[in-house]
Amino acid sequence: MEQLLRSLFQSMAKSKSANRWAKRYGLHLGAQRFVAGETIQSAIEAIRQLNQQGMAATLDHLGEFVSDPAEARASADYGIRTLEAIYNSGVQSSLSLKLTQMGLDIDRTLCMENMHRILTAARELGLLVTIDMEDSRHCQETLDILDELRIDYKSVGTVIQSSLYRSIQDVKRLGEAGVHLRIVKGAYREPASVAYQDKADVDVNYIKLVETHLKSPGFTAIATHDETIVNYALQFIEKFKFDKKTYEFQMLYGIGTVLQKKLVDEGYPVRVYVPYGNDWYGYFMRRLAERPANVSFVLRGIFR
Ligand code: FDA
Repeated sequence: MEQLLRSLFQSMAKSKSANRWAKRYGLHLGAQRFVAGETIQSAIEAIRQLNQQGMAATLDHLGEFVSDPAEARASADYGIRTLEAIYNSGVQSSLSLKLTQMGLDIDRTLCMENMHRILTAARELGLLVTIDMEDSRHCQETLDILDELRIDYKSVGTVIQSSLYRSIQDVKRLGEAGVHLRIVKGAYREPASVAYQDKADVDVNYIKLVETHLKSPGFTAIATHDETIVNYALQFIEKFKFDKKTYEFQMLYGIGTVLQKKLVDEGYPVRVYVPYGNDWYGYFMRRLAERPANVSFVLRGIFR
């Protein structure tokens, strides 16, 4: 049953018409548990509170199904405005974004132009940008674009998913090059031809990727709410005495808050991924797919 719901929410995340409807409907259905409001002001306020609790943030202006060039340029403008808001408010945060939001599915040149604009602004403001990893069809192109961008910009990293078979090779190569990587399990439904289908295999591979990257010159973001994996990573970190400047734990806004606090209290670096904006539908569906029990928030949202 859980697997069925998981697949259902993963499919629903791809529905453009549901996304349009949700944008009109506003921040409801329980999505506000995972999304820090629709405006940049609400997101900055949420980050201020996280900073006060000893956690850094990475801010994501949500955007999915970008299908025309004007929309992609507007998303890049938003990215720059988000960077400026981070800088001007003085909060401790980086930026996260998706390449399809910047026009990857429309025209690679357009996407590169947008990324150059964003990374030039980020470099001037001294802020890091992390490129989210989307489904496996975009993986090779995302890594190719990252390689190209890293010729001109050093403060750009990406995400690697432990669900994919290829990831250990990617981590080895990017680790040697000193790339800033966020290791996640993977939020997209993928075929058996490219990805592990059993959670146990995804978890084992996750640990392998984290160990490999921690030992490399690249910064490691251990991005999971899985307490067993977090505890394992802590033991590994203590065994090899990795410098706190070379890794951090990362979690999503509204998830694993007790674990976030525990890590901060124990003196470990923690960063929270804070999404904002009115394009919350796809992000919300992926959060429901990860834990179908979250559907109770939807029901509460509807009957409130
Ligand atoms: P797992 O799914 O095994 O969950 C472990 C425990 O965490 C659960 O038992 C539950 O207690 C809690 N939990 C997990 N998800 C929950 C939820 N939605 N609601 C409530 N509790 C939940 N993916 C991707 O494909 N591309 C990307 O770019 C990113 N980016 C990203 C950034 C950051 C900072 C994080 C933390 C995660 C991502 N992800 C992602 C999502 C990632 O791939 C994965 O889907 C989620 O992190 C859930 O997996 P866990 O590692 O938490 O483990």
